[in-house]
Amino acid sequence: MPTEDYSEALRVFILNASLRKESLNARLADLAERLVTDSGALVDRAPLRDFPLPLYDGDVEAVDGIPKSALDLSGRIVDAQALVIVTPEYNASIPGVLKNAIDWASRVRPQPFKDTPALLLSASPSPMGGHRCLLALHAPLERLGALVYPETFSLAAAHQAFTPDGDLTDRHLQKRLTETLRAFLASSIPTHREHF
Ligand code: FNR
Repeated sequence: MPTEDYSEALRVFILNASLRKESLNARLADLAERLVTDSGALVDRAPLRDFPLPLYDGDVEAVDGIPKSALDLSGRIVDAQALVIVTPEYNASIPGVLKNAIDWASRVRPQPFKDTPALLLSASPSPMGGHRCLLALHAPLERLGALVYPETFSLAAAHQAFTPDGDLTDRHLQKRLTETLRAFLASSIPTHREHF
């Protein structure tokens, strides 16, 4: 039974930024999708590999325009009222493919991140859980006007963290993720979101 009913009000786009088929972040995105759905909101979900993009190059943009994948990604963000990014951490920061996708999407008008509520999640086999990437992501997203939710969720030792059913073996962590998602959804109910 849904604990809330956001079905009329809220559509959430969940983007997994790992390109790997066996991605740990995809498993975290699976769980986030289930928890958001349980809250009664609608979920749209895509892996970043659905939006293949060249490296950002101003000359390419000037000659060929913005690639269709960047327009598609932007459209998926704009069609939702909230964005959840689930991303690996590479070298203590943002994976290049994700930053490149943000850079391309930021060239689309209306600019899709403006006033978009965004929740950041990460999974890593390391004891750090990828939180440095989430810290780094604040800068470009906030520069673009996204409403980055202050609380983030970094899953450490993610290769050992899931039950066969896709829940977290640590029930306290599962409760924290559930509560973080619920609070984010509650704060994301559309009010006066506009794009410029
Ligand atoms: C990593 N990984 C990693 N993990 C981490 O917690 N902090 C880090 O700084 C890095 N750096 C890093 C750089 C590069 C180039 C790679 C390929 C990997 C490990 C990373 O968390 C691990 O590969 C995850 O499994 C990647 O996420 P997915 O693909 O499983 O979702």
